[in-house]
Amino acid sequence: MSRVAALPVPPWRATVEAALARRGVVAGLKAVIVALALFPLATIAWAMLFDPAMLGANPAETIIRTTGDRTLQFLLYSLAITPLRRITGIGGLIKFRRMLGLFAFFYGVVHLSSYVGFDRFFVLDEIVKDVVKRPFITVGFAALVLMTPLAVTSTKGWIKRLGGPAWNRLHKLVYAVAILGVVHYWWLVKRDLTWPAIYGAVLAVLLAWRFMKARTVRTRTVRN
Ligand code: HEM
Repeated sequence: MSRVAALPVPPWRATVEAALARRGVVAGLKAVIVALALFPLATIAWAMLFDPAMLGANPAETIIRTTGDRTLQFLLYSLAITPLRRITGIGGLIKFRRMLGLFAFFYGVVHLSSYVGFDRFFVLDEIVKDVVKRPFITVGFAALVLMTPLAVTSTKGWIKRLGGPAWNRLHKLVYAVAILGVVHYWWLVKRDLTWPAIYGAVLAVLLAWRFMKARTVRTRTVRN
């Protein structure tokens, strides 16, 4: 007999789980996420077309920075899904992880394109020189390269083709991507490190949670 008393299940958990089991609710929530996720890009497009002053004195920098922030934020949101599922017991949250990860990749591509177009004016020589000689660009580039196979293999078809364990191993790369993203931000900032430190702290908590969870599972496996 187990000596650990089962914790009472909070009543809201069943309600949320039941809601997330309904296709309409999930589709509605996904539509809200898409609208919120695209809002910064729509704002940039609006400003470029109708009100360039909204982008400040250095529009290229504003666009590159906004899209860089979104890339890192969506990565962290997607990484937070598993801890949130485990802590709240709401398994249905998994339904949103893929789209959050894909938005991270989408913003990463827009971020790179903004840098290539607005900062380097498509001059390939300068871009290659930057990737080779400026460490923060090298690291950002590496992060985006590593994100690519994760985005490509995010479909059900690829999970089947690779098999669950191999797919899980490959997708552990997301931690390396997030670390590189934080290092990229840390290295590009010249004075005020507040924001890179905040992103770094959030990532450290998520990584620590993963590490503790993996250790608990290993210990249990060894004991059994
Ligand atoms: C090909 C890859 C990349 C290139 C060339 C690149 C380039 C840049 C550049 C030029 C800046 C602005 C620097 C400045 O204004 O001084 C920047 C900012 C930033 N990038 Fe990237 N980046 C890349 C990938 C990434 C990735 C994958 C992430 C996230 C995981 C990311 C996150 C950020 C963040 C958070 C900022 C700062 C935003 C802010 O200041 O608020 N970048 N990046």
